[in-house]
Amino acid sequence: MQSAASTPAPDWLAVPADANDLVPGVWPASARRDDGVLSLGGVSAAELVREFGTPVVVLDEGEVRRRASDIRAAFDVAAAQHGTTARVYYAGKAFLSIAVARWVTEEGLSLDVCTGGELEVALAAGVEPSRMGFHGNNKSVAELERGVETGIGTIIIDSLIEIERLAAITARTGARQRVMLRVNSGVHAETHDFLATAHEDQKFGLPLSAASAAVARIREVPGLEFAGLHCHIGSQIFGVAGFRESASRVLDLHAELLIDGDVPQLNLGGGFGIAYTRADDPTPIGALAEGIVSAVAEGCAARGIPLPALSFEPGRAIVGNAGVTLYEVGTIKEVELEAGSRRYVSVDGGMSDNARTALYGAQYSARLASREGTGDPVLSRVVGRHCESGDIVVDHEYLPDDVAPGDLLAVPVTGAYCAPLSSNYNHVPRPPVVAVRDGAARVIVRGETIADLLSRDPGADGN
Ligand code: LLP
Repeated sequence: MQSAASTPAPDWLAVPADANDLVPGVWPASARRDDGVLSLGGVSAAELVREFGTPVVVLDEGEVRRRASDIRAAFDVAAAQHGTTARVYYAGKAFLSIAVARWVTEEGLSLDVCTGGELEVALAAGVEPSRMGFHGNNKSVAELERGVETGIGTIIIDSLIEIERLAAITARTGARQRVMLRVNSGVHAETHDFLATAHEDQKFGLPLSAASAAVARIREVPGLEFAGLHCHIGSQIFGVAGFRESASRVLDLHAELLIDGDVPQLNLGGGFGIAYTRADDPTPIGALAEGIVSAVAEGCAARGIPLPALSFEPGRAIVGNAGVTLYEVGTIKEVELEAGSRRYVSVDGGMSDNARTALYGAQYSARLASREGTGDPVLSRVVGRHCESGDIVVDHEYLPDDVAPGDLLAVPVTGAYCAPLSSNYNHVPRPPVVAVRDGAARVIVRGETIADLLSRDPGADGN
């Protein structure tokens, strides 16, 4: 067996005692092995691949619903303890389809959309527009008109120009639109650390210093109803410190705005971290909800202002761990390195179905799905089929030595920001998304075919 010290493995990755184990919290709760074969939501990986081919993104409906309702319940409880209410919007950007929009709204959540496209999916799913929030730093006039016309619950204004666009739309249509203003608190949080500056160098929202003038303008517009401030500090955040710091800064402004009118709500965005590998240890949702809500409650008490109604927008924490991508192993190579060796295991997908490793250096894990391996764990890198050396799916993982072409490999935690960021790079069709629940599987996003790709090319018709 290799020891971690003699390999190019990162410090956080220990040689596993069992390279077939399914780490709780990383895998959906329904994941198990039956006679060695992985099953998800009661459906075996072998059966899924027989029916839908590879790659296939499997989404565990029970896991999505459980996480959605756990998060909603955690914030309900925390808010009630402090004498307010909390509304949880599912951030559809993490993964949106008609089925998922229905699952989360059936679990009592509201829905955050950030483009006209996401809005249309939500409407097609039958989501009540009043339960939606509409985000985006560059919503077009047409998108804003569509939002207002459908009676969307809240539009989160991201710029001064957008205030004027909405003023014109509401003047023309006579509609009255509830809005929030997105502010940039100067706090940027990622995983364990957060960075707090006076000014954050990014495109979203208005700096705190510019916000009171913007709110004064919103309050002047007869067609707009100002509901409060919105702030989102980042994604894959562990712990409450970043939220606490950001809330404290935003509450100073919130208190100032109360002098001239109502500020009934406060939206603190999403970003709750999840476990991608066994090295990640996210704060349980109950403790996170209580930590954030009590920080806001203390901040309000210290300023002598009432606690507003709160809202949150988690995406990843609801769908991330519910998704598992199944691939077939194609080729295998050993690459000798100065510090040891690395095994390259190529699968039949890659950065077109999971861009996160290439884009963000994200870490994933992998397990054999069609059987249990019997060999010792070998440091491996799971790579895709694309013409690019950065086409890595799982950067570092110990896989059993006997992994072989034709094996099925499962990569967990692909439920968030994988399908939505997918592409047709190298003319590779995008895989289907298949929902599993109680032993049954159904397609919720159809896979593409080469014919789909050719249909966009007028040359295919001789033009
Ligand atoms: N609310 C707002 C305003 C957001 O911008 C986001 C994420 C969320 C909520 C949801 O954040 P979550 O709870 O899912 O972390 N593609 C990147 C993540 C980009 C997140 C963008 N905004 C990734 O794959 O890590």
